[in-house]
Amino acid sequence: MSLRRILAALALATFGLALHGAAAAQAAIPDLGAVAAAPPASTLPAGWTQRGVFMEILVRAYQDSDGDGIGDLAGLTSRLDYLQALGITGIWLMPVFASEDHDHGYAVVNYRAIEPAYGTLADFDRFLAEAHQRGIAVIIDYVMNHAAAAHPLFESAYDSRQSPYVDWFIWSEEKPKGWNTFSGEPWREGNQRWYYAVFDAGMPDFNLRNPKVVDFHLDNLRFWLNRGVDGFRFDAVGVLFENSAAAWENQPENHELLKRVHALLAGYGEKYMVCESPGDPAPFASPDSCGSAFAFGLQKHIVASAQLGRLKDDVLYSLRKLPVPRMATFLANHDYFAGTRLARTFDGDEGGYRAAAATLLTLPGLPFLYYGEEIGLGLAAPVSNADQSLRGPMSWSAERNAGFTSADKPFRANVANWQTHNVAAEDRNPASLLNWYRALIALRKSEPALSVGSFTSLSERDQAVFAFTREHDGSTLLVLINYARKPATHALPAGFQPGEWQVVFPQGAKAAFTGTKPALAKLAAQQVLVLKKKPS
Ligand code: GLC
Repeated sequence: MSLRRILAALALATFGLALHGAAAAQAAIPDLGAVAAAPPASTLPAGWTQRGVFMEILVRAYQDSDGDGIGDLAGLTSRLDYLQALGITGIWLMPVFASEDHDHGYAVVNYRAIEPAYGTLADFDRFLAEAHQRGIAVIIDYVMNHAAAAHPLFESAYDSRQSPYVDWFIWSEEKPKGWNTFSGEPWREGNQRWYYAVFDAGMPDFNLRNPKVVDFHLDNLRFWLNRGVDGFRFDAVGVLFENSAAAWENQPENHELLKRVHALLAGYGEKYMVCESPGDPAPFASPDSCGSAFAFGLQKHIVASAQLGRLKDDVLYSLRKLPVPRMATFLANHDYFAGTRLARTFDGDEGGYRAAAATLLTLPGLPFLYYGEEIGLGLAAPVSNADQSLRGPMSWSAERNAGFTSADKPFRANVANWQTHNVAAEDRNPASLLNWYRALIALRKSEPALSVGSFTSLSERDQAVFAFTREHDGSTLLVLINYARKPATHALPAGFQPGEWQVVFPQGAKAAFTGTKPALAKLAAQQVLVLKKKPS
């Protein structure tokens, strides 16, 4: 037992995660009872899963309400007005369940309990009710692939071959040969056997071939759905099932299970589930699987285009190849492998930052912002762990601790640029990044073509300007984004009549055209313009 604890602690330490209570005695098995579906009424507008803009939030880093330096659900609840005014229509909460690695949260120890530092189930219920009152949906992170090594189910299985929970996990008496996954060797030695843990010794994989394990997860999902959550972000879905050393990723069984989950959610009315498969997202966006998935890849190409000053072919390729209208789009998230904070990427090039944001918020898909992205939140520094540097406290004001906590210090140092990039300062400045995001989100919400309309590119690879149209229900929008740091012109399709269009973004801006055959749009350096066809 103690050896396992040490191994898990070491593994977690390599992930840079704090390990609290490592020496605690084995906890009781948490509630595994069956949960019957009891769908609560939803007050969200029909079609909410296809429209609007989501915000990914780390509760720990958002707002502390009780002065312990750690963000909590009550703090987040107090910031819902801010999110509503920003135009946010959905929140993805990174893990809020009780976990072994508290900060990261993906090593769950109790799937039906709230992480104690975040508050209680009552705090969660209140948060949910207040979000719903503001028309904001809430989806929560859910990890089916693995538990924490400190989950009492795993502890029981680990300690005794007679445990009723042994076959909830994946064991081998001999060390299986020839395995090599993204984290290297996935078989971990423990108590004279080997267990499978694809990420880390501290996160043993569940045996999802055991129907009891699947039932356990489905019951947990109903537990949260019955409380009123609007859906889930499913973690690490590419590695749910493994068949051999050569087939541990993207196995057909992953989709079968997710389809079952999809059906469960469908029984609750309009719900949203979105899956995380960085390596191969498209198959998970199928209705025969998860139904939606994060459009990994696209984010890097958009960001690179805005950095390079020209449209990368990869953007067009992704838009052709991925089922983007069914996908969740984003520019950055909490994982370093997906990219860094945009403030770091663009490093003072706010024009590039704005062009990238405008691209995200005018393309098809369901856009997700990463908390603080809208104010240019920087990296938490100095931290050696790259993931943690992306998860700094939100900057609310230029007051002490950036208005995040009244404690002596926050759980993690404030981000590098909190004195200049905070909500209070940017709120006052009409030309701020925050107000740029607000205006773009308002535009997306007022023009359904931007959410659900068709997409037609009017650009080719390597052009400075990304021009495209979005069309829905008789309404056509033309988006023009100049990625270059110098003025550019862009040829519009034959027959384009400038007089038939009006500028809808930014408010008060004028479009400039030259020539007639074809008409050329003239754009200033890094200028963004959205036009709408006047009704004929
Ligand atoms: C996903 C999460 C990541 C986590 C991993 C294991 O990739 O986004 O943060 O470490 O799954 O749960």
